Amino acid sequence: MLAQIDRERLPRHIAIIMDGNGRWALKRKLPRIYGHRAGMRAVRQGVEACHRLGVSYLTLYAFSIENWKRPPAEVKLLMTLLREYLKKEMEEMQRENIHLGVIGRIHELPGAVRKDLQNALARTRSNTGLHLTLALNYGSRAELADAFSKLAMQMRKNGKMEIDEKAISRSLYTQDLPDPDLLIRTSGEMRLSNFLLWQAAYAELWVTETLWPDFRRRDLYQAVLDYQKRERRYGGLG
Ligand code: FPP
Repeated sequence: MLAQIDRERLPRHIAIIMDGNGRWALKRKLPRIYGHRAGMRAVRQGVEACHRLGVSYLTLYAFSIENWKRPPAEVKLLMTLLREYLKKEMEEMQRENIHLGVIGRIHELPGAVRKDLQNALARTRSNTGLHLTLALNYGSRAELADAFSKLAMQMRKNGKMEIDEKAISRSLYTQDLPDPDLLIRTSGEMRLSNFLLWQAAYAELWVTETLWPDFRRRDLYQAVLDYQKRERRYGGLG
């Protein structure tokens, strides 16, 4: 499948809504947390596939602002898994020259998580390969509200100021990332779930019935192949 992909026409930025961990566990009569653990292994598959293909940016929806509403034990486990992931994958990230980034209200995460994140960000700062961004305590509407507050503050300071699309994009957490070209969602749901609403304005959507823990490299290759068959028009006539 890899051979069928045109390396000249890769999506520059792929974003993924990793959904279905709970259903995966339920199907196996296991507690939900097993699904999240299996989901962590699938993260490695997604990252590896992008690395092998030569995709420049991958953004993963790992924890949404709405996820705080889940039972405290599940939230705690998700935080633990994240810390485990950072520890386990650091060597691999260095070997594969992966640059880690985060988006979201990071300051609201538990101190231990923030500390591990800061450490991982610092260690991968000079890496020049795949930009892997984890969306943590992320919500698109919160991001827009934060951006508008920032712009309002600048306006107060500088007096008159034009707020155009560029100014908004520059004020988002994703200011250093290009807009996603391809947005993948697993487990069949046809929703954006408050993920990159502004940035995904022209993204191609690709939804698979596969539950996130079952996601493998070939699924990502299939998404890219399908993406390459589509014609992107950005509202024009093509
Ligand atoms: C959605 O499944 C997934 C999440 C809420 C969290 C995503 C977390 C991981 C993939 C594991 C850890 C990630 C990293 C980066 C270390 P769900 O629980 O909503 O599934 P359901 O809709 O079937 O209940």
